[in-house]
Amino acid sequence: MILYGASGHCKSVIDIAESISEEITRIYDDNPKVEAVCHIPVQKFLTEPSNAYEPWIVSIGNNRNRRKIAEKLTQNFGLLIHRTASVSSWSTVGDGTVIMANVVINTCTSIGKHCIINSGAVIEHDCQIEDFAHISPNASLAGGVTVGEGTHIGIGACVLPEIKIGKWVTIGAGAVIIKDVADGAVVVGNPGRIIG
Ligand SMILES: CC(C)(COP(=O)(O)OP(=O)(O)OC[C@H]1O[C@@H](n2cnc3c(N)ncnc32)[C@H](O)[C@@H]1OP(=O)(O)O)[C@@H](O)C(=O)NCCC(=O)NCCS
Repeated sequence: MILYGASGHCKSVIDIAESISEEITRIYDDNPKVEAVCHIPVQKFLTEPSNAYEPWIVSIGNNRNRRKIAEKLTQNFGLLIHRTASVSSWSTVGDGTVIMANVVINTCTSIGKHCIINSGAVIEHDCQIEDFAHISPNASLAGGVTVGEGTHIGIGACVLPEIKIGKWVTIGAGAVIIKDVADGAVVVGNPGRIIG
């Protein structure tokens, strides 16, 4: 497997791969500041290599930057699920998504492409998470929650059942979301209040 992006999130992605004995052969970055991450060589991305067989993961934490890179690549994207994660066989996960340690994804949930489901997040039954979303560590989504494209749910946030959260929303760390949230909003606190 090949990674694109050599920052902090890249290390977490390597850790997922190691947990399932998936080999990362190379890492690309637009502006590499390091020669290697976890002993895996980092190369400057100049032109796209032809790699018909090795799947890629865009290992960039920022949702907009991850989308920008994913949309410029023409490669096959892989999927990484940590050995300790529990993903219902009735749920689906899109290509390019990474699922970290101790995540629980309950039944009949759909996770889009190039999402990050971070350590210990719980996504209950019948949720729908759109492409490029990031559910941070220990965040919990109750049943039937919808999360729009590119939305970031902060660390330890809780979302009540059936809530609809729009696209490119930011939910602050520890927020409790009790009402639907419009596209682009920034929401913090308990109960959640809009600050931007
Ligand atoms: C919501 C967030 C993005 C806001 O960042 P910001 O735009 O820089 O906002 P500021 O720090 O200027 O704070 C603006 C106001 O919101 C409040 N605020 C910010 N984050 C808050 C939070 N998580 N909970 C409660 N209040 C919060 C601040 O106290 C401040 O209030 P004031 O205007 O009364 O002083 C950020 O604080 C946050 O929670 N990010 C989540 C990070 C995260 O979970 N990362 C996980 C990576 S794996």
